Amino acid sequence: MRIFEQNSFYMIHVLGHNHSIIQQFITEIRDKEVQKDRMRFRRNMERMGECIAYEISKQLTYKMKDVETPLGMASCWQLDEDVVLGTILRAGLPLHYGMLNVFDKADNAIISAYRKHSSEVDFEIEIEYMSSPSLEGKTLILSDPMLATGMSMVSAYKVLTVQRGQPSKIHVVSVVASEQGLEYVRKYLPQNVEYWIVVLDPEMNAKSYIVPGIGDAGDLSFGEKLE
Ligand code: URA
Repeated sequence: MRIFEQNSFYMIHVLGHNHSIIQQFITEIRDKEVQKDRMRFRRNMERMGECIAYEISKQLTYKMKDVETPLGMASCWQLDEDVVLGTILRAGLPLHYGMLNVFDKADNAIISAYRKHSSEVDFEIEIEYMSSPSLEGKTLILSDPMLATGMSMVSAYKVLTVQRGQPSKIHVVSVVASEQGLEYVRKYLPQNVEYWIVVLDPEMNAKSYIVPGIGDAGDLSFGEKLE
């Protein structure tokens, strides 16, 4: 999907719109019966990361390299971008590992973000931990399985780029996004960001969980936590 707005293009890829095995993965990820198998949930998120990373790889640049095979020389291609994979703890880990299976030489940026509640429904995003290489001139692929309000993604992006420099290309990845969250990130992130989303859901509940969504992606991967 390409959205034209105020003389600029936003690239939003909604991968679940096309018929592919991604649709079966998201069906299982959403299904509360299948979700009872925590290992399968994590593995489906990882497989989703592999598929999304492969789709992103089609947009990257490659350079020629001559390779010696046992029988002769072959002109081949290799990735010509410094990819940094970034993700948000803790829900992002299985998706991140999937992307790392594809971009196996990538450096990694890990950042924590959690909702600090002042009431049942009100919260701010707190970031307490970040580890990242320099992002200057690199290709940053920043993932979070759930783009609900969009606030975690924007906070993570700001902390990373203020402290580690400006990437030349930015890809934002989410498995499930709310329409409101997508609007929010498009407002606060640079215009050259490319978005990779599997499904776009219409609403959020009072606690800012995506509906129908999948539930709490962190709990489904790693178990419930004490608040
Ligand atoms: N985080 C989740 O894990 N799920 C949501 O629906 C929203 C935020």
